[in-house]
Amino acid sequence: MFRKVVFRLLAVFVMASAAAGSWAAETHEPVNHRFCFTCHGTDGIGSEGIQGPRLAGMESWYLKRQLELFRAGGRGKHPSDIQGMEMQPMAAILSDENIADILEWAATWEYVPATPTLSGGDATRGRQLYLACASCHGDAAQGSEAMNAPALAGQNDWYLVTQLKNFKAGYRGADPLDQYGAMMRTMTSGLADDKAIVDVVSFINTLGR
Ligand code: HEC
Ligand code: HEC
Repeated sequence: MFRKVVFRLLAVFVMASAAAGSWAAETHEPVNHRFCFTCHGTDGIGSEGIQGPRLAGMESWYLKRQLELFRAGGRGKHPSDIQGMEMQPMAAILSDENIADILEWAATWEYVPATPTLSGGDATRGRQLYLACASCHGDAAQGSEAMNAPALAGQNDWYLVTQLKNFKAGYRGADPLDQYGAMMRTMTSGLADDKAIVDVVSFINTLGR
């Protein structure tokens, strides 16, 4: 099972790197940015198999910040951050111009909220837990640029769960370059265990966007 996963990831990585290489050589051709879809799903709707989250509909300011953060190595460098380490080299090859092109291109993708996959969570308890999140992410988890907090509603639930676990464990948000992640990291102290994480994400799943 583990071998199969590793092989699949390797195949994707080689494919993605090859596509990225030819794209980096040519630049500017939006069609060559398509290597993002290898891991983020058709039209950026997310890919659970590769654990690449939905990008379509993501706020442009947040998308930009994460690409720059991955590129600088402030995210996706912790050896236990398996998924982040897949993304980091993808961002490392991007120039400022590439990022500007991607933002323009991503703005044209149709936003389709992710389909909930989580089961067994207690959304009622999650609603209580979410009270501590609303001041930054908004009552409907719609996000707030003023608070630097992205929308959570409509994002893939498996991705939200992984991020909360990663923040809590310090796989994300512990790097000195990641000031916003550090802010978020302190917030996970209110989520006592994995059950609380599943509960709060189950509540977020009830919020449409
Ligand atoms: C080899 C697979 C792969 C490729 C190719 C790839 N990504 Fe990713 N990306 C991932 C994974 C996996 C994650 C989740 C990282 C995590 O769990 O922290 C991710 C995370 C992200 C995030 C963070 C989202 C968030 O909500 O914080 C952004 C933004 C992103 N990718 C953009 C892109 C863009 C733009 C491209 C194309 C230039 C791209 N990715 C190409 C695998 C990939
Ligand atoms: C003090 C403000 C603040 C509070 C309160 C807060 N967050 Fe955040 N959160 C942030 C910021 C800022 C980010 C973006 C971090 C970054 O840019 O890397 C974030 C990011 C996240 C992410 C990652 C999203 C992604 O696309 O990768 C998740 C998941 C998240 N928060 C969930 C929660 C939950 C659940 C709570 C309540 C338990 C909460 N947050 C409370 C500020 C906050």
